[in-house]
Amino acid sequence: MSKIKTIGILTSGGDSPGMNAAIRAVTRAGIYNGFNIKGIYRGYDGLINDEVKTFTTEDVSGIITRGGTILKTARSKEFTTEEGRNKAYETCVNEGIDALVVIGGNGSLTGARAFAMEHDFPVIGLPGTIDNDLYGTDATIGYDTTMNTIMECVDRIRDTANSHERIFFIEVMGREAGYLAQNCAIACGAEAAIIPEDMTDVDQLAEFMHRGIRKSKKSCIVIVSESQKCGALYYADRVKNEFPGFDVRVSILGHLQRGGSPSARDRVLASCMGVGAIKAILQGQRNVMIGYRFNEVVYVPFSECIRTDKPFDKRLIKVLDELSI
Ligand code: F6P
Repeated sequence: MSKIKTIGILTSGGDSPGMNAAIRAVTRAGIYNGFNIKGIYRGYDGLINDEVKTFTTEDVSGIITRGGTILKTARSKEFTTEEGRNKAYETCVNEGIDALVVIGGNGSLTGARAFAMEHDFPVIGLPGTIDNDLYGTDATIGYDTTMNTIMECVDRIRDTANSHERIFFIEVMGREAGYLAQNCAIACGAEAAIIPEDMTDVDQLAEFMHRGIRKSKKSCIVIVSESQKCGALYYADRVKNEFPGFDVRVSILGHLQRGGSPSARDRVLASCMGVGAIKAILQGQRNVMIGYRFNEVVYVPFSECIRTDKPFDKRLIKVLDELSI
């Protein structure tokens, strides 16, 4: 294997707070250890179209506080094709890039794996997603900030819900995963969470209602994990039909959940993972995601983190259940 001199870095898929902290960490740790660093703009599309810039330590100055990603991001359709990945490889050759660090979620790491295998190219992944749905790491970059953002929003909604004695269904992001919904429900003292890992039927819904407003409580908050078929609107409609006595409202938090300055926890996580990515390259690691488990940086092979479903901690369901009486 030839010696790695230049590392390209890109962000891909949905942005998440802390991606900038990770870009900074990879750039600075890379330069500290004698590598050249090249920033690639607009995710894999930028790799295909050669949108590349050499980064100095100044290029990443003052970005640790900022949400989003200074490198921009995209969900590249072209990179899902072999032809697109071949073009991306040509850019690496032309730019003298010998290894890549990809910050993104499941789809981005799936693309990274295909590219690495087809071109025998070293790629290191960093888990950058608010959803926390990647196997092999306790937390992903952006998850903590988003939980805090949701918590602040729900606390505000609770004020108005209490005043009017209403039921609120609040929809949060998470794609196919209920980590955001379940943990935020616990953090906000919500009466219930509806998550894909543990589907809720109408009888359970009735129980939530009675547990809430009909007891001594002034309001009822149900956090619903986003879903094509049965999101917050679906549940609100069912309640309106089956319990017409309740005053029901829906709030879909949407993309405000993805923005904002990263929390201290996400900044530290992203910094440790960025340093971990450079260390992995120095150790000759390739095609692994940097995970964080029990306060240790770990290497998770792409094949594992992409293909294995992250186990949902069912104890959290019980915690919410016991505390929402
Ligand atoms: O994967 C991150 C995420 O924010 C999901 O929670 C959500 O389903 C999706 O991205 C939204 O994507 P977009 O910004 O493309 O609408």
